[in-house]
Amino acid sequence: MNRFPVIIDCDPGVDDTAALLLASRLDELNIRAITTVSGNVGVDKTTANAIKVRHAMGKDIPIFMGADRPMFRDPVTAEKFHGNDGFGGVNYPKEIKNTEIGQEKAWDAIYRIAKECNGELIVIAVAPMTNLGIALSKYKDLSKRIKRIVIMGGAAIGGNITPSAEFNIYVDPEAADMVFCSGIPVYMCGLDVTLKAYMTPEELEEIGALGSFQAKLFRDVLQGGLKKYLEWGYKGVALHDPVAVLYTVDDSIFETHHVGIRVETKGQLTIGKTVTDLYSDKQMEHNAYIVTDVNREAFIEKVKSLMTKF
Ligand code: RIB
Ligand code: CA
Repeated sequence: MNRFPVIIDCDPGVDDTAALLLASRLDELNIRAITTVSGNVGVDKTTANAIKVRHAMGKDIPIFMGADRPMFRDPVTAEKFHGNDGFGGVNYPKEIKNTEIGQEKAWDAIYRIAKECNGELIVIAVAPMTNLGIALSKYKDLSKRIKRIVIMGGAAIGGNITPSAEFNIYVDPEAADMVFCSGIPVYMCGLDVTLKAYMTPEELEEIGALGSFQAKLFRDVLQGGLKKYLEWGYKGVALHDPVAVLYTVDDSIFETHHVGIRVETKGQLTIGKTVTDLYSDKQMEHNAYIVTDVNREAFIEKVKSLMTKF
């Protein structure tokens, strides 16, 4: 099997938790590190949550703490959706023996591991991209050392935290634009596809009914989010971050387009918008890829089959 080295840059976060659990059961992934950042909640909490999820993943993966704020802006967080603890209010019921995190800052670890992987490293970024922005600023040759970046973030159409912008991009638009301008192939799994990758209440219960500690954790952390999505009129909870993880391993159930993508960093109403030429006559430099659709049934089946592996 072709295994490839990845770093998962995240802000756990209830859907980050689901994504990490799924990633731990994808044999194709050699998870070299988990890096954390301020996003859904503060970086102390996202890191504490990453430690919990690492325990549930059952793998001794190094964790490196990253930025406690965006590169040039005040932090924006999402406790309303993820809970004050960022863990959906779920009490992690097990004693965690390994609470260690690496001494390096996330951006230094990203650079070191990229060098160690000789250009084969893939970064799966499912949070504000502050760590990548800092790493690209600090290490001028980093862009030559990362094979690709697969992100959950952005949207060709619409937004969630504002009508124009998706949360991960909105929180740190400058860092996001640096990533899109870096020359590294960027695959954007934005709201266009992640809102289609939803899990219904029945499907989420089926996961919980698998019976493992991890399957129940997957179900429980997503309950609050599910309730909100149903209140908003959706058929289920959007599995935003799991889309980026599953896409990294197998893009065959997704639709992808090679496009230009840049990020608005100045607009008053449009700050954080990912501007793409997908629906425009005016063409941009095609510097990235946007994922626009998914076979939802196949996606859900993959999630279920991975969760049976615990
Ligand atoms: O907009 C959804 C994204 O913002 C997800 O990554 C979620 O975890 C939050 O970070
Ligand atoms: Ca996230």
